[in-house]
Amino acid sequence: MHPFQSVAQKDIAFFKQLLGDFCHTNQEQLATYGHDETEDLLFLPEVVLRPDTVEQVSEIMRYCNEHSIPVTPSGARTGLSGGALPIHGGVALSMERFNRILEIDEKNHQVITEPGVITQVLQDTVREKGLFYPPDPASKGSCFIGGNVSENSGGPKAVKYGVTKDYVLNLEVVLPNGDVIWTGANVLKNATGYNLTQLIVGSEGTLAVITKIVLKLIPHPTHDLLMLVPFFSAEKACEAVASIFRAGITPSGLEFMERDALTWTQKFTGDSSIHVAENHEAHLLIEVDGFDPDQLMTECERIMTVLESFETDEILFADSEAQKNSLWSLRRKVGEAVKSQSIYKEEDTVVPRYELPALLRHVKTICKEYGLHSVCYGHAGDGNLHVNIIRGELSEDQWEKDLPIAIRKLFTEVVKLGGTISGEHGIGLVQKDYMDIAFPEVALDLMRSIKTVFDTKGILNPGKIFAEN
Ligand code: LAC
Ligand code: ZN
Repeated sequence: MHPFQSVAQKDIAFFKQLLGDFCHTNQEQLATYGHDETEDLLFLPEVVLRPDTVEQVSEIMRYCNEHSIPVTPSGARTGLSGGALPIHGGVALSMERFNRILEIDEKNHQVITEPGVITQVLQDTVREKGLFYPPDPASKGSCFIGGNVSENSGGPKAVKYGVTKDYVLNLEVVLPNGDVIWTGANVLKNATGYNLTQLIVGSEGTLAVITKIVLKLIPHPTHDLLMLVPFFSAEKACEAVASIFRAGITPSGLEFMERDALTWTQKFTGDSSIHVAENHEAHLLIEVDGFDPDQLMTECERIMTVLESFETDEILFADSEAQKNSLWSLRRKVGEAVKSQSIYKEEDTVVPRYELPALLRHVKTICKEYGLHSVCYGHAGDGNLHVNIIRGELSEDQWEKDLPIAIRKLFTEVVKLGGTISGEHGIGLVQKDYMDIAFPEVALDLMRSIKTVFDTKGILNPGKIFAEN
């Protein structure tokens, strides 16, 4: 354990002199920055700092490093693994004032942005130029692009277009000792030394603080088609997923929703425009996109041919933009809907896509064994299943006792299937005790050594990714 120092009056005086009004110690602000979207966890920082220049971030890091004060970078706090929780107190370093899109380079199809820009704002802004930044986590309307880079976020479009890492070309970062570097170059190919850019992507704010991001863009597709397919068997819905790809089609979205995921979300949003029959166990939401409407029609027909062998009920084709938006909105709200229903624990399992039916079987068998209810949904095309384990009526004691055992069993099966324990939400705080299932000690040691090279004193986002002894 690192001997961290508490934030003292002299430290506050230093921060105030550096940031003026953007240094906060009142209870309300501390409480705001003490939580994200991970369950109902709360860890108060001792001070909230909201810089808006790289020089200020550098000064803060230099000072905190010298004085052994922990620093937890904070974006929009929409994370689901507790990555932004200041579990050792200290500084919550909010990046929300880094909210400028600095340059859209239309000649090279790139954008340079600060990390505190809302992902959807970035998407909408580049779209005005006909350009596309595809990664679209469910929280795209409120999450920050910097958080997406830190967690290597995915979302429904990942199945065709890839995840955040596939778009990050270069980063300006502040190291824990205050040094400022660019990690790479603004180019599409780069075989120059170790790939520091991709090391920072997905490092959950534990290696450096991101202050500028250079992203690759692509031309925005002009057309899309969306269908909602009801299945009588959830396992069959999972089986259909790999078959669609094997028929030579790459949908731009292929999402799975178990019955409860859809009906709970309908109840949560008040949108009951979709009729869910008693015998519908699950739905697939399938989107294709591109530039040629005829080709998209052909792709839909081929998908329907594949689906003929899977016993589906009547397929709904979205016939207007409004209907497409409402279907996607339902899908994006599943997480919130589940959260509003009960105390729960969300897992972010991912397996090779063909193993999806086996994964679902394991979820159901293990949950049954421990008297737990589960609601599954997610990015089926990526083999990425969000498994929500619901506490429901279970006593707190039983829940505390059985849940970690059930999760450990599930993750062990996931790894046996060739998968891993997080596809897009990260390890952060809440999954760190399971890292030994995903990696042998040798690999974990390598990772811890990398952390130490960047952050000798361990002040940057301490207590994340690796179990603390
Ligand atoms: C989603 C988030 C929870 O897919 O990742 O809705
Ligand atoms: Zn997701």
